Amino acid sequence: MLKKTIAVLAAAGAALTLAACSSGSSTTASSTSAAATSAAATSAASSAASSGGSESAAPASGELPAIDPAVLDGAVIGFAQVGSESGWRSANTDDIKRAAEENKVDLQFTSAEGDQAKQIASIKTFITQGVDLIAFSPVVETGWDAVLEEAKTAGIPIVLTDRAVDSDPSLYKTFIGSDFILEGEKAATWAKEEFAGAGPVNMVVLEGTTGSAPANDRAEGWANILGSDPNFKVLASQTGDFTRDGGKKVMEGFLAANPDIDLLYAHNDDMALGAIEAIEAAGKVPGNDIKIVSVDAVKAGMEALSAGKINFIVECSPLLGDQLFQAASAVLSDQEIPARIITVETTFDQEQATAALPSRAY
Ligand code: AHR
Repeated sequence: MLKKTIAVLAAAGAALTLAACSSGSSTTASSTSAAATSAAATSAASSAASSGGSESAAPASGELPAIDPAVLDGAVIGFAQVGSESGWRSANTDDIKRAAEENKVDLQFTSAEGDQAKQIASIKTFITQGVDLIAFSPVVETGWDAVLEEAKTAGIPIVLTDRAVDSDPSLYKTFIGSDFILEGEKAATWAKEEFAGAGPVNMVVLEGTTGSAPANDRAEGWANILGSDPNFKVLASQTGDFTRDGGKKVMEGFLAANPDIDLLYAHNDDMALGAIEAIEAAGKVPGNDIKIVSVDAVKAGMEALSAGKINFIVECSPLLGDQLFQAASAVLSDQEIPARIITVETTFDQEQATAALPSRAY
């Protein structure tokens, strides 16, 4: 946690340095402390919960310099992906491969299938190969110091996408991705408004992969808004590993043990979609008997929201490919970049999902 705070403060410093020359609006580099970010999020979440819904995706500019095509053409970049656990992950993989191809990058892509040891082995192989740059989305937050030190000793720069690590920020060039704490705060702000004035709310939680940044931070964000609210009673909270299957199985257990569930908070759409199957099989109506709030806004989730089976979705954009290769281009030409690039995202209610679906890219 200390390292995380240091990382945020380091990011703030870097962002402030670069803010003066920044003109983009699609991404932001953190310029506040963790506490201030969290406080600001409360009002941001509140307004997002009531008025969000404009189509957004993580567009490519922001504080990052434009790509120099000559730098990327033929550059060997290793990307160690988490796996293929969700619709979000597939969209993220597709976007990174697309952007690599467009920029003529020689992309060495590996998938760890949710196994940190496998992901570390991939990164070590990239180091042995002497690639120009390594990017990865870490399966979990802890346990990266040794391999990051190894890359540094070999002179190979590291870029984190999507998920954070708790290592010292000097071990990587930047971290590009969502503010998962803010996502949790947006979800909880919606729930607070939705159940305002209602009696005790019996809720269950489908957590993401244990130890992963999105699972840790989405729980923390929720707790920031509703953690001390005695009206929200957590009946059960368990990991569904970000998968549809996991969400279904764990929800079956929740339903068997708890006849009166009012609310499900799912850390991603895939688990919510699995839970919907379990709820329907139990003879209940998802979105009505049991309200559902989830995170991601992938197409299948948006369809369920539009159909009234999910009640609210907080967007988490997987479209990080352009930003990744902008960062790579800058790093490989020795330019300074912010230590943290935060993806700008929105939220969707039923009406907003219906309006956004026809042009939803993933
Ligand atoms: O790290 C992003 C998370 O990972 C997404 O929200 C989830 O769907 C994915 O598996």
